[in-house]
Amino acid sequence: MRIFGIESSCDETACAVVDNGIKHVCSVIATSKDFHEKTGGIVPEIAARKQVEFIVPVIEQTLKELMEKESLPSMEDAIDSIDAIGVTVGPGLIGSLLVGIEAAKTLSYLWDKPLIPVNHLVGHLYANFVDAEKEVLFPAIGLLVSGGHTDLVLIKDHGNFEYLGGTLDDAAGEAFDKTARLLGLSKYLGAVLLSKSASLCTDNTLIGKLPRPMIDQDNFNFSFSGLKTAVKRLIDTSSFPVDVISCEFQEAVVAVLVSKTLNALEKYEVKTLLLGGGVSANALLRSRLTQECSNRDISLHIPPLSLCTDNAVYIASAAFFNPVEKDISEIEVNPSLGIMDRF
Ligand code: KG4
Ligand code: ZN
Repeated sequence: MRIFGIESSCDETACAVVDNGIKHVCSVIATSKDFHEKTGGIVPEIAARKQVEFIVPVIEQTLKELMEKESLPSMEDAIDSIDAIGVTVGPGLIGSLLVGIEAAKTLSYLWDKPLIPVNHLVGHLYANFVDAEKEVLFPAIGLLVSGGHTDLVLIKDHGNFEYLGGTLDDAAGEAFDKTARLLGLSKYLGAVLLSKSASLCTDNTLIGKLPRPMIDQDNFNFSFSGLKTAVKRLIDTSSFPVDVISCEFQEAVVAVLVSKTLNALEKYEVKTLLLGGGVSANALLRSRLTQECSNRDISLHIPPLSLCTDNAVYIASAAFFNPVEKDISEIEVNPSLGIMDRF
C-alpha cells in the first residue's frame, strides 16, 4: 500500500511517499526557519503564510520525484499509484496545520483516495519503521523528545499505547533552545549550536554541578524549566565559558532522559526502545542510549538524522500502521493533541 504523507504542523511544509509503512520512496521539505531566525522566535502568522506559499510546489515536486523514481510517464500515473493520503492533524500551530489538512482534503476529494488523520507525536516514533535495519518488536518503550513535547509511553502494539509520564513544564527541545538563547548562541532553535559548543569543552570542572531534575523520583515525569533557571544563575554569578556550561547542561538533560527511560524498560520488562522527535538528533543522547541498551541487551531503534526533525516520511508510515477510517468531513485540526489522543 502506497501512502502520500503531508506534514505542516509548524515551520516545515513536507510531503513524502512511503510504501507499506516501511519503504521510503521520495520526500520533499520546504522550511520557513530562516524567517523565524530573523525575528528570534516563531511567528505563527508568518509560518502559516509560508505554508500557503509552499504547499502546492511541495506537492508537485513530490509527484515529480515519484514519476522520476519509478519512471512513470505522467503525473496521472504517479497519482494512480497512490492508495491513500496521510496528514498531520495535530499538535502544532493552528494556521500551519490547517494548510496541510485543507490541502489533504482537497487531494483526497480530487484523487478519490481515503484520508488518514495522523497524530504528529505518534508519527515521530514511526521514523524507526522506515528503511529500518532491524524489525521493531512489541512491546516497546517510546521516548518522544521534540520541541514541544517530552513523553514516555509503553507501546503494546500499533495504536495501543499506555502513558507513563511526560514533562511537567518545558519540553527537552524547548529547554535546549531556551538555554542556547541564554548562552547567546542563537535566538531560535539553538539546540544544535549548544551541542556543538558542548563538544568543544575539554574542562570537566562543572560536570555534576547542575541539577538532574526529578532523576531520583519514582515516576516517569520530567521537569526542565528549573535547569534553565540554574543556567541563568550560573551565567549571572560565574565566569564559566559557554562551552563548559553547554556541556554540563547537555549532560544534565541527557542523564535524566536516559535514566527515566532505562527505569521504564526495567519496570515493564521491555526489550525494545523507540526514540523519536527532534532531540533524538542529539549525539550525546544517541551515544548514551546506544551504550546503555547494548549493556542490557535492549533493541534500540533511533531514526536516521534525516528523519529526526519534522518531515512527512514518518507521517505516511504512521498512517499505514494506524489506518483510521474517517470521512473527510469528520477530519479536523487539533492544535493541542497529546500523544495519547486518538481521533
Ligand atoms: O520534532 P521537532 O522537529 O519539532 C517538533 O515537533 O517540536 O523538534 C524540534 C526540536 C527543537 O527544539 C530543536 O532545537 C531540537 O528538536 N533539536 C535538538 C537537536 N536538533 C534539533 N535538540 C538537541 N540536540 C540536537 N542535536
Ligand atoms: Zn515534530
